[in-house]
Amino acid sequence: MNAREWRIEVMHGANLDQLGRRDPVLYGTLTLPELEQRIEREARELGMLTRFFHTNYEGAFIEHLHGLREDADAILLNPGAWTHYAWAIRDALEIAGLPALEIHLSDVRNREPWRRVSVLGELCFATVSGRGPDGYRDALVLLREHLQEHCS
Ligand code: DQA
Repeated sequence: MNAREWRIEVMHGANLDQLGRRDPVLYGTLTLPELEQRIEREARELGMLTRFFHTNYEGAFIEHLHGLREDADAILLNPGAWTHYAWAIRDALEIAGLPALEIHLSDVRNREPWRRVSVLGELCFATVSGRGPDGYRDALVLLREHLQEHCS
C-alpha cells in the first residue's frame, strides 16, 4: 500500500511577503513566492502535499485557522512577529486542533529578548529556527515523522 500523502498547510504572517526586501543576513534573499516554490518542491520529494497561505491581517490569519480542520493534516506556520504576542492566534491554533510546527528563518532565540517569547510554542510539537530556508525542509521531515507516528 502507498504511504498516505500528508497535506501540509504552510502559513506565513505579517511582513513575510516582504522577504527579499528585509535584512538578508537575518532572512536570506529569497522572496516569499520563491521560498514557497522551494518548499513545495521539497515537500513533493518527501511525498507530501503543500498548500500556502499568507496575510498581513491578524484576523484573516485567525479565520484561516478556523477553516482548516477538514483541509489539512498539519500546519507549518511562521506567523512573523505575531508569534511573540498574538494570543488570539494562539487560541485559533488550538481551535484548529491539528499538529503544528512553528518555524522561523532567523534564530529568534538569539535576537532581542522579546523575540525569545512564543505564545504558540506550547501548542506546537516542535520549533525550527535559525536555519533559513533550509529549516523548512527540516520542518517537513519532522512533520512527516510526527504524522506517521501519531496520525497513521
Ligand atoms: C521571523 C522572526 C520574527 O521575530 C519576525 O518578526 C519575523 C520573521 C523569522 O522567520 O525569522 O517577521 O518569524
